[in-house]
Amino acid sequence: MRVLSGIQPTGNLHLGNYLGAIRNWVKMQDDMDADSQCFFFLADMHSITVHEERAQRLKNVREMAAALIAAGIDPDRSVLFNQARVPAHAELCWLLNGTARIGWLNRMTQFKDKAGKNREGASVGLFVYPVLQAADVLLYQATHVPVGEDQKQHLELTRDIAIKFNTDMGVDLFTLPDPIIPKETARIMSLRDGAAKMSKSDPSDMSRINLTDDDDMIASKIRKAKTDPEPLPDNFADLAGRPEASNLVGIFAAMTGDNADAVCARFAGQGFGAFKPALAEVLVETLRPIRQRFEALKNDDVALDAILLKGAAKAAAAAEPTLRGAYAALGLMR
Ligand code: TYM
Repeated sequence: MRVLSGIQPTGNLHLGNYLGAIRNWVKMQDDMDADSQCFFFLADMHSITVHEERAQRLKNVREMAAALIAAGIDPDRSVLFNQARVPAHAELCWLLNGTARIGWLNRMTQFKDKAGKNREGASVGLFVYPVLQAADVLLYQATHVPVGEDQKQHLELTRDIAIKFNTDMGVDLFTLPDPIIPKETARIMSLRDGAAKMSKSDPSDMSRINLTDDDDMIASKIRKAKTDPEPLPDNFADLAGRPEASNLVGIFAAMTGDNADAVCARFAGQGFGAFKPALAEVLVETLRPIRQRFEALKNDDVALDAILLKGAAKAAAAAEPTLRGAYAALGLMR
């Protein structure tokens, strides 16, 4: 089993990232057998599709590395690195640009959302973003890719590119990866709008819980989270049509490990005035140790750089055979 996944180092690690993806990364790392390997990386090459000051970008990469380690990624067991240090990603992306079709990329909902109405003004990087993502996955022959729901379409595209490349070139080079998407927490929603996903790019910080938020901030965000005036029902199905309420109950269940019906039963007949303080307490207690580990690590640039450098060397070595195979399949002399 080869596990691989990435995260853009823009802004903070938030509860959506954690419950949708990172918690699964840690679980897969911890359950790994001797024949398996996990690769986790900071998608800094992807992050250039969003403008950021140079100093901020450097800071973001280190902080996200610290956050992942604080959340449970162990750089001694998993290969942890930043994409820009492993040029094979950019190289394979270019090779795959010969295979990926414009029509496929035109269908990507993330591109449509991010480009908005002004498609002609969007960067080419934003458009080919999913091809770089395909390169990330295919380079390592990944079999399992733990992600949230919003990455599903990118992974389907990755499979399409792999199949077309293998078929067109008459090779059996790329492994087809399977997305691993958690059932209950595939899509954690904004605290301010039950129809929007929790996201780093939401201008309102009140819309998300960051793993770096302190206890008071978490409590205040939950207190101010949008809800409705109805009491909670005794089972989760009856929350249909109440997206904000479903989201909060889902988060409570995910954080405690209870199922959502049990959470509803516990608060049945009560309003959010009773539920919210309990949710805030659960979040504060579970996130505090992560935040404390993060605080202890985040300014240790020397240690973080050493971890990322070591990870990049391992990643580059693992990527090399696939990259060589891709050049050879295309008849390119090196
Ligand atoms: P990114 O940085 O947006 O998010 C990192 C991971 O967090 C998940 N996620 C969520 N899950 C549930 N609810 C949410 N509200 C939520 N928000 C984010 C994402 O699904 C993702 O798993 N393109 C990717 C990074 C990437 C990548 C890759 C992933 C680059 N190359 C190769 C896997 C394999 C991204 O921008 O994720």
